[in-house]
Amino acid sequence: MANTLIRNGTVVTAHETKAADVLIEGERIKEVRAGIPPDSAATIIDAAGMYVMPGGIDAHTHLDMPFGGTNSADDFETGTRAAAFGGTTCIVDFAIQARGTRMRDALDTWWKKAEGRACIDYGLHMIVTDLGACGLEDMDDMVNEGVASFKLFMAYPNVLMVDDATIFKALSRTAKNGALICMHAENGSVIDVLIARALAEGKTAPIYHALTRPPRAESEAVHRAIAMAEIAGVPVYIVHLTSEDALHEVREARDRGLPAFAETCPQYLLLSIEELERPNFEGAKYVFTPPLRPKEHQPKLWDGLKHDHLQVVSTDHCPFCFADQKILGKDDFTKIPNGGPGIENRLQLIHHYGVNSGKLSLNRFVEITSTAPARIFGMYPRKGEIAPGSDADLVIWDPNAAYTISAKTHHMRVDYSMFEGFACRGNARTVLSRGEVIVDGNRFLGKPGRGRYLKRAARGGAWK
Ligand code: URP
Ligand code: ZN
Ligand code: ZN
Repeated sequence: MANTLIRNGTVVTAHETKAADVLIEGERIKEVRAGIPPDSAATIIDAAGMYVMPGGIDAHTHLDMPFGGTNSADDFETGTRAAAFGGTTCIVDFAIQARGTRMRDALDTWWKKAEGRACIDYGLHMIVTDLGACGLEDMDDMVNEGVASFKLFMAYPNVLMVDDATIFKALSRTAKNGALICMHAENGSVIDVLIARALAEGKTAPIYHALTRPPRAESEAVHRAIAMAEIAGVPVYIVHLTSEDALHEVREARDRGLPAFAETCPQYLLLSIEELERPNFEGAKYVFTPPLRPKEHQPKLWDGLKHDHLQVVSTDHCPFCFADQKILGKDDFTKIPNGGPGIENRLQLIHHYGVNSGKLSLNRFVEITSTAPARIFGMYPRKGEIAPGSDADLVIWDPNAAYTISAKTHHMRVDYSMFEGFACRGNARTVLSRGEVIVDGNRFLGKPGRGRYLKRAARGGAWK
């Protein structure tokens, strides 16, 4: 692949903003400085008036994921293409260990799902449902394959939930193998009782999904997860944190110097519980876990992002079509497939509602959407950075592009948008993945299958 030079742009990373050109040689960045001669490269991209940023990293996606008898609507091809349109050049998806099986079976299954389809580079976390006789050895095996993080569920009893002993054993193992445990923190046993009560009272509408999963059920589980990690002496990462109550637990732990990390998602920053009361069953479009909260939680989450009490914004992209999938729960909210779409819109939303509204600096925007997930999940500095030697995963971002989010124009394979009509200023204009232009304006130039599996490094390990 010949050299490419991105000229006249403003390079924005997590730590600086500067006028500089970026020279790419093959798949990697070769040089970053002002005044690189134009004859250094066969291809010139003019980025005047644009920001040049590391490509977005979405550390929480569910492509082609089985749930409640159906599968999430985007597969690795449609999902990663949509991600690229929004400036995301790398994802970390979740393989799921079926109970009673080996983690390697799940890894093979998810590699097959991605093979020939992924348009951008991808890593995999492993969802642990069963440690069984060889689960701890399986965890080590996964780490050797670059699966450097595991998700455990404190919710969904009898399906995904594991007990505290299993959580503690898994946490303790990471002291040896350097992996990171990611927790879905909700008290599933309490929630199940609340659900049973609601159904017994004939409360079947989507809003009861939220009302049976109160913020205290989340904060209690966050507290417990952090306590178990503290006893095991290891870090922990709370996924999709939604509430002030849960944030308080993370902040308190971090103030005590504990390595507790957490992410939130655009839906929790921008949408609230009223969405679930939309008429004609449209509230089902907003059924995911943990659920949306009252509006008062939103400024607390923004503040948490600003002050590094929260480290990452990911999407938890898990789309189900309204017409033929969400509808499965028409008479019973517990049968609505849990999840919502968002892989395409994360940068647009956080740039507009975070940076343009003065809540976040531009550098913090890059940090929480790219650099921090690269560091936390063992991909830095290959990903999430603009420096010699890093992969040339770059977004040329037009800070003034006006864009209104709509299911009519988005690229996700789902028949609605959670952010329909949200007007944003700022959008990806050109997207490069390992030096190759894969998005240019409205055109997708990448190929399914070009995305590579990323072997991520465990804590203390070097990027391989
Ligand atoms: O409702 C959600 N979030 N679905 C995806 C699975 C999970 O818990 O992240
Ligand atoms: Zn979860
Ligand atoms: Zn998820």
